[in-house]
Amino acid sequence: MKVTALSGSPLKRGNVARLIEMLLKEIGASGKYEIIPSMYMVPCQECEACIKTGSCIIKSDKWSTIAKSMLKSDLIIIGSPVYFYGISGPLKTFLDRTYCLWHKRRLKGKKVILCTVNSRGTDEALDSLRLWAQIHEMKIIAAISVENIKSKNIEKDKNTQQEIKKVKKLFK
Ligand SMILES: Cc1cc2nc3c(=O)[nH]c(=O)nc-3n(C[C@H](O)[C@H](O)[C@H](O)COP(=O)(O)O)c2cc1C
Repeated sequence: MKVTALSGSPLKRGNVARLIEMLLKEIGASGKYEIIPSMYMVPCQECEACIKTGSCIIKSDKWSTIAKSMLKSDLIIIGSPVYFYGISGPLKTFLDRTYCLWHKRRLKGKKVILCTVNSRGTDEALDSLRLWAQIHEMKIIAAISVENIKSKNIEKDKNTQQEIKKVKKLFK
């Protein structure tokens, strides 16, 4: 199974990264994931050229490489920290660029796991990810929200373990 996993956190050993690693391990995929903030993606210029061409005019960053990987994957995992009640800015910038894939619904039917980590017990970012996946007509197979405050160690957090178990069952 080919999996593309994306982290919206800049931290390599942060909560989102570790949550994604746990998911990859449980579903038996490779532990590799992309750290979107390290790629400094250029924002969508709203040039609308993609409405005709289906591709993005911006070629100066790694967006197309990641998009190609997503299109070839059986499963996409997207994780974000909650930043001021939303997903992280770099992840939002990355997702905005998927406008060019949306016109012909090129992500339609693609399986996706969405996950977010917050510190205040409320999670507005997961809704944002859900709506993004829904408008692309993707198949959301799991949507996981984790609060990091109770679990200094996310791997030992009971709620996180339960959510991961549910995902594991989907791949049995
Ligand atoms: C700029 C910034 C804004 C944040 N805003 C929120 C917030 O609105 N709600 C919340 O619950 N946590 C907020 N947090 C806490 C992070 O969501 C939390 O620490 C999360 O675990 C970070 O994930 P990471 O370790 O993978 O980077 C914020 C953190 C930062 C750095």
